[in-house]
Amino acid sequence: MTLDLFAQPAGKEIIAPGACLLRGLALARESAIWQALQSVIAQAPLRHMQTPGGLTMSVAMSNCGPLGWVSDRQGYRYQALDPLSQQPWPAMPAEFMALAQQAAILAGFADFTPDACLINQYAVGAKLSLHQDKDERDQSHPIVSVSLGLPATFQFGGLQRSDKLLRTELQHGDVVVWGGPSRLRYHGILPLKSGTFSYMGTYRYNLTFRRAS
Ligand code: SIN
Ligand code: FE2
Repeated sequence: MTLDLFAQPAGKEIIAPGACLLRGLALARESAIWQALQSVIAQAPLRHMQTPGGLTMSVAMSNCGPLGWVSDRQGYRYQALDPLSQQPWPAMPAEFMALAQQAAILAGFADFTPDACLINQYAVGAKLSLHQDKDERDQSHPIVSVSLGLPATFQFGGLQRSDKLLRTELQHGDVVVWGGPSRLRYHGILPLKSGTFSYMGTYRYNLTFRRAS
């Protein structure tokens, strides 16, 4: 018997300690994911939030799960109610949860149960500036990020804003997981280039699963 200590699932690229890229992982569930996404955004429409500084974000956002990430003049936070409707966010679809947990396990995070899924919709030109995900209470849980639709350039840096950036193109179905020593790495998305992606049209979607509470 040979024991390969470095055996990895096909398509797993380690990008930093505690961070990996799982190319195409969401493809096996894409139609169920797409249907679930449509249902969530029918209940909690995508909207452009304000930053605390009063700018309008270029990415349109919604959420599902017990908690949703919101930004407004008061700041960034997680809350149980959609500020547009004052109703709870839509439930986390079972297919979303299954994909997030599968990705976390493949990345080496065995007990990840997200309670928040932020949905980002990028139209041409929309971007997400370099930032850290640090509004979650317990940062021992990873971030699981699923890319759908048009490709985009993902920037993945270090723990300081000025650290060198890795740039990689994220394609439909790719999943990135970062946790452990990489949990607070800076990351962002460069302005989306125009294109058309079969049934998802002229957008990129991103699902970011977090354990917020
Ligand atoms: C995020 O940082 O919340 C989203 C990143 C992405 O759209 O890939
Ligand atoms: Fe982020």
